[in-house]
Amino acid sequence: PLKGVILVGGPSTGTRFRPLSMDLPKPLFPIAGRPMIHHHAAALAALAGMREILLMGFYEERIFDRFLDDLRNEFPQIAFRYLREYRALGTGGGLQHFSSELLRGNPAHLFVMNADIASSFPLREMLVDHQARSALATVLGIETDRSEARQFGCLVVDPETAAVKHFVEKPETFISNVISCGVYLFNPPIFDVMSEAIAARRATLQDELALDAEDVQASQQDERVNLEVDVLSRLTATGQLFAHVCVPQIDFWMQIKTPTSTIPANRQYLQYFREHAPRKLSRTEAELISPVYVHPSATVHPTARIGPNVSIGPRCTIGKGVRVRDAILLDQVDVKNDAAVLSAVVGWEGKIGAWCRVEGAPAESNQANEHATHKGMKIPTATILGKNVTLANEIAVRNCIVMPHKEIKTSCHNEILM
Ligand code: GTP
Repeated sequence: PLKGVILVGGPSTGTRFRPLSMDLPKPLFPIAGRPMIHHHAAALAALAGMREILLMGFYEERIFDRFLDDLRNEFPQIAFRYLREYRALGTGGGLQHFSSELLRGNPAHLFVMNADIASSFPLREMLVDHQARSALATVLGIETDRSEARQFGCLVVDPETAAVKHFVEKPETFISNVISCGVYLFNPPIFDVMSEAIAARRATLQDELALDAEDVQASQQDERVNLEVDVLSRLTATGQLFAHVCVPQIDFWMQIKTPTSTIPANRQYLQYFREHAPRKLSRTEAELISPVYVHPSATVHPTARIGPNVSIGPRCTIGKGVRVRDAILLDQVDVKNDAAVLSAVVGWEGKIGAWCRVEGAPAESNQANEHATHKGMKIPTATILGKNVTLANEIAVRNCIVMPHKEIKTSCHNEILM
């Protein structure tokens, strides 16, 4: 049997996602009409032999209850649970802490995935490779632009054997354009390697710190075990780590760190569904330019032009003559007549006045270039409205981030509105 773990982090890991993480844990933010980690769960659930899928993080206990219930209804053959860390243990520390839970039922393999990514998740292909190579651990990799690679964990992969020879997190100089996707496949003996890695790390920490009471908090921070840095890079020395590299043109992958990155993530999923799972999209009627997801409870005026790359949430109302493109509208957004929403995220209960323009400059790249520079200042290439933002009629809001509950009465550009 197989198991899956989704590393969801906690309230403090979603800070770059403000203001959208102020009203909902980031892993539940809807992308292409479904919570961010629903896409992970669906990919895991599609594997033959998948028995149990666990969310692991340090959010409070009940926060995923409804989401887990929805998953149980959708995939009744699979058990779902949330494992809560008493504090942030790091991406490797939580796995080690819950190792007996994870090994219960003797799974042959364990998938582990970061929550904050969007991907076509080629898990089946990864599993086939993993088994064929009798690997202990396999990491999903993807080729990226040479100029962007250094922002990620970089993998130097032997082209013949697919063994990972070096694995360096955010290297100072270029070492490879193959980067880690934050998706891993392990066999149970990985937990022995984790124990060794953790013991080694504690030993160096104790030597370095000569702990006293004031250092406790600092040392707890330092005690966090990073799966890639502390555990996986150890495996490269012994040739036990392999890479499954995504196929360009078929697979996609990107990180979702900032609110702006939800727009390309939404676009990628919708376009992927158009090819591979059209039932997940809304049927294309005259006014919809595919791919589009419209929640069945939303009301869209027949003269509105929606799409491509648009997700519209529950109970939204889209007025006459409205234009929406490359955008996510969360629950209960009200867009009045003749407004345009382009390259933007409109938070829950947003109110967009008549003839408004809410827009961003579309980002060139999916990976990193989600900020443009304006007079030396980083500005978003999208407009992001937090929860319950109201825009007066006939104003333009361009490349702005607006905090929740604001009322905007005049046009603004390239600003963060607190
Ligand atoms: P950055 O670019 O620095 O953000 O690096 P990264 O992409 O490797 O991110 P990071 O390692 O912080 O997080 C990867 C995934 O693990 C995310 O989905 C986080 O939510 C999750 N995560 C981070 N820290 C913890 C932790 O202490 N416990 C758990 N369970 N998950 C975590």
